[in-house]
Amino acid sequence: MNTNNIIEIQNVTKRFPVGETEFTALSNINLKIQKGEFTGLIGPSGSGKTTLLNLIGALDIPSEGEILISGKNVAVKSDAESALLRNEHIGFIFQSYNLLPVYSIFENVEFPLLLQKKSKAERKEAVMQALDWVGLSDIANKKPSQISGGQAQRVAIARSIVKKPDIVLADEPTANLDSTNAYKIMDILKKLNEELGITFMFSSHDSKVIEYLRRVITLEDGKVKNDETK
Ligand SMILES: Nc1ncnc2c1ncn2[C@@H]1O[C@H](COP(=O)(O)OP(=O)(O)OP(=O)(O)O)[C@@H](O)[C@H]1O
Ligand SMILES: [Mg+2]
Repeated sequence: MNTNNIIEIQNVTKRFPVGETEFTALSNINLKIQKGEFTGLIGPSGSGKTTLLNLIGALDIPSEGEILISGKNVAVKSDAESALLRNEHIGFIFQSYNLLPVYSIFENVEFPLLLQKKSKAERKEAVMQALDWVGLSDIANKKPSQISGGQAQRVAIARSIVKKPDIVLADEPTANLDSTNAYKIMDILKKLNEELGITFMFSSHDSKVIEYLRRVITLEDGKVKNDETK
């Protein structure tokens, strides 16, 4: 086994029940992602990009096949403990930011740390470091309603990296942003990749995202259509 493969997707199929029948969203996917990659899934709407990211992040389970993280066979079908373990190593960024409106920016970024055994001082240090990475330490006390979309996505990035994950999965992270903010977000993510060694996997339709990717995997009808390293 090549332990440089931080993500290994083996013969993964995902079916969703639709009424009396089933819909096959992913069909026999095989992919290897190496540590430190800056890669992304592209392809038409409905081709399975989000479904695959959700499986990698253990937000859902495959119908068949396995997903290995860091060479460990953790992605068995219904092993909740493995999923929890995997979540410790993976951060998420979503198209719609998913910030909790009643909490401050600080508390939103702190949220993933509350499940860990960390002191208040340790949490504060980690949160401020993450906010510093995205250039937002000065707005820690604001609420999500008081900040812009670009700032909200930077808060979501801070939240995704606050646990120092090995992998960040980003599902259309620039879809709701203007091009200035989209480039700003991609510059931050590229820097996190280069300086902290975080492995990134995107899903995107956005040419601004695609131009940053070093490897582009095209999905079509739930299958890998093309896999190209630049
Ligand atoms: N929970 C579900 N139940 C039934 N079908 C689903 C479910 N989730 C996704 N699908 C179907 O699986 C296919 C793949 O969906 P997915 O969201 O992965 O596409 P996508 O490539 O991310 O598309 P987009 O670019 O629009 O975000 C679609 O046809 C979708 O309708
Ligand atoms: Mg999607």
